[in-house]
Amino acid sequence: MNDQAAETSSRWRLRLAQAVANSSGPSLSEVGRVREMNDGVVVVEGLTRAASEEMLTIDQPGGPVSALALSLSLNEVRCLVLGDEAGIAAGAAVRRTGQVLKVPVGDSLLGRVIGPMGTPLDGGGPIVPGDHWPAEREPLTIADRAHVCRPLETGLLAIDALLPLGLGQRQLIIGDRRTGKTTLALEAMVAQSLRGVIVIYAAIGQRASATANAIEHLRQFADFSNVLAVVAGPDDSAGSQWLLPFAATTMAEYWVSHGRDVLIVYDDLVKHAAVHRQVSLLLRQAPGREAFPGDIFHLHARLLERAGQVSASKGGASLSALPIAELQAGNLTAYIPTNLVSITDGQILMDAKLWQSGQRPAINIGLSVSRIGGNAQSPALRKGAGQIRLDYAQFLDLESFARFGGAMEADALLRLEHGKRIRAAMVQKPGKRLSQAGTLAILRAITSKAIDRLPIDQVGAFREQLNLAVGDRTPAIPAAIAAGDTLSDEMAISLDQLISNLLP
Ligand SMILES: Nc1ncnc2c1ncn2[C@@H]1O[C@H](COP(=O)(O)OP(=O)(O)OP(=O)(O)O)[C@@H](O)[C@H]1O
Ligand SMILES: [Mg+2]
Repeated sequence: MNDQAAETSSRWRLRLAQAVANSSGPSLSEVGRVREMNDGVVVVEGLTRAASEEMLTIDQPGGPVSALALSLSLNEVRCLVLGDEAGIAAGAAVRRTGQVLKVPVGDSLLGRVIGPMGTPLDGGGPIVPGDHWPAEREPLTIADRAHVCRPLETGLLAIDALLPLGLGQRQLIIGDRRTGKTTLALEAMVAQSLRGVIVIYAAIGQRASATANAIEHLRQFADFSNVLAVVAGPDDSAGSQWLLPFAATTMAEYWVSHGRDVLIVYDDLVKHAAVHRQVSLLLRQAPGREAFPGDIFHLHARLLERAGQVSASKGGASLSALPIAELQAGNLTAYIPTNLVSITDGQILMDAKLWQSGQRPAINIGLSVSRIGGNAQSPALRKGAGQIRLDYAQFLDLESFARFGGAMEADALLRLEHGKRIRAAMVQKPGKRLSQAGTLAILRAITSKAIDRLPIDQVGAFREQLNLAVGDRTPAIPAAIAAGDTLSDEMAISLDQLISNLLP
């Protein structure tokens, strides 16, 4: 947080604390009036004692709608409408609540699709929340955090073997439009929900059809009783979209505080930044670079800072975050993407060129990094992966050299053929996740070079066969991985046997 933002934030909190302390007095009975309405931002007169970040309610024919006071001056309050703004007219009464903005939390949200304030969007009954918690909460203190030490497996070979993630990690998924970003996050959500992790899909400003597809995918493949989708589409108020990631994180924190691991996917934060810019301009905040307000970095830093692995003394659960960010023409150095890269613990870069070449998921291994997940990788997979990442990087160099017609020695040709098979093994269609044992088995087939005996176009089918067979025919292997064992010689021998039996 920069000094100015920290100062503003503490000033706000002070004013809010004072206001809440006074709120039993006559100030709460103060009624303001809407003076004007502008794309989700309402200017209110006559609320002289309202506090910053205080929740207000605005009367309208369809029932009161919530709003958040964000910009205060002597004679007006600018606030963000957090619901349907269509019915608000000039002159409407605005009342204080004396409370910070709160959102529903609790187990009744599981298996549901809701708006950020808890409005059901799935045609189901009303949500009966266990409680309401503030949408903005302090992140974990350093003392209450522990190292990321447990794996967050996705079932995707490229990630689990080469870019391993850990529970409590914040990993950015970044790439041009339509390069498989959402699908990758969905795979991680499906895999984790089936392992008992609660997964939250926070869809911010996504097209209704894309959101519907994502939710359908989760209904079909995930354990939907562990899923919550929080949605505000491009047609919803700017306030709902702005609030959404904070509200969804609060909903997650409720479960984390009750000892459950939670994974949250923010799809996507570049859209959220655009909404923040729009809102800030309407709130008359000074624009800075690319017309974003100066606090844009702080906005996402304070959001993602809320993720992490909680220390054992505080329950030991974790909040993992997979923010998604759309790039323009692969430009990683644009303002918002660089901010997000610097806030997270690593990034998975989805590459439009790889996508077009048919490499899907289109993960650019060279430009992707997972800074902390390696420590969390299960011991068997860590040993099984060996130096595959290095081999693959060398293969990519070699391949570009070969493209220029460089003369190759026999050994280089073999490495080229081997690398092509690693690449083919990483091509995975949605829904074709590998079990951990399946991942270990295909890694063994790669590192033992057994896979080099296959034609490239059969590598994918072989991986599927191996994934199915390893659970059935060598049940000791999944059990050993689950127990946290490393790859033993006996395991390697039984995998080698399985592999050679399956090879044509
Ligand atoms: N590994 C894959 N193999 C085959 N098809 C895929 C794969 N990943 C994604 N797709 C398909 O590609 C399309 C685009 O994927 P997706 O929506 O995940 O991309 P995106 O980057 O999130 O797009 P947007 O920029 O529109 O949000 C979808 O139809 C999806 O099913
Ligand atoms: Mg998407």
